[in-house]
Amino acid sequence: MDVLSRELRSLADTVALAEAVAPRLRPGGVLLLVGDLGAGKTTFTQALARAYGVARPVTSPTFTLANAYPLPGGGTLAHFDLYRLATPEGLYDLGLEEALEGGARVVIEWPERAARVLDAEAPRRLTLRLALAEDGTRLATLTEE
Ligand SMILES: Nc1ncnc2c1ncn2[C@@H]1O[C@H](COP(=O)(O)OP(=O)(O)OP(=O)(O)O)[C@@H](O)[C@H]1O
Ligand SMILES: [Mg+2]
Repeated sequence: MDVLSRELRSLADTVALAEAVAPRLRPGGVLLLVGDLGAGKTTFTQALARAYGVARPVTSPTFTLANAYPLPGGGTLAHFDLYRLATPEGLYDLGLEEALEGGARVVIEWPERAARVLDAEAPRRLTLRLALAEDGTRLATLTEE
């Protein structure tokens, strides 16, 4: 079910979207970010971290595959980028279960790389799809399962 759908024409629109999504991602919850290279997944995660009050810079975990940010209001934002994940089960080595059990809010770029693990470990999740159009706008659709 679509819970929201928006056109993003600027970074400000991504910031506004992140503010709308932030309260929907609960402690222990998972948000999958789906979209091609350059669709804006990391940029959205940066805006989401800001929405939770994270002051330190949020960088793409391209090589580390996982980063965690303490939230000023309590809890953690865990950010995974699975683009370079060798096998789906590698997600366990990155600490997915610990993050969920610890009540982190979990955001995952390239979840397709670990689909079978995520289907097992996070059957209930939010999915944000980002699609870059030729004119440079981005279509964002949030669904909830
Ligand atoms: N709403 C937006 N308005 C304008 N530019 C944007 C927007 N969102 C992202 N961008 C720009 O698009 C580029 C790619 O964004 P980003 O790195 O977030 O993509 P990504 O989906 O994480 O890519 P990857 O699959 O490589 O991880 C960046 O230069 C970023 O500044
Ligand atoms: Mg990225």
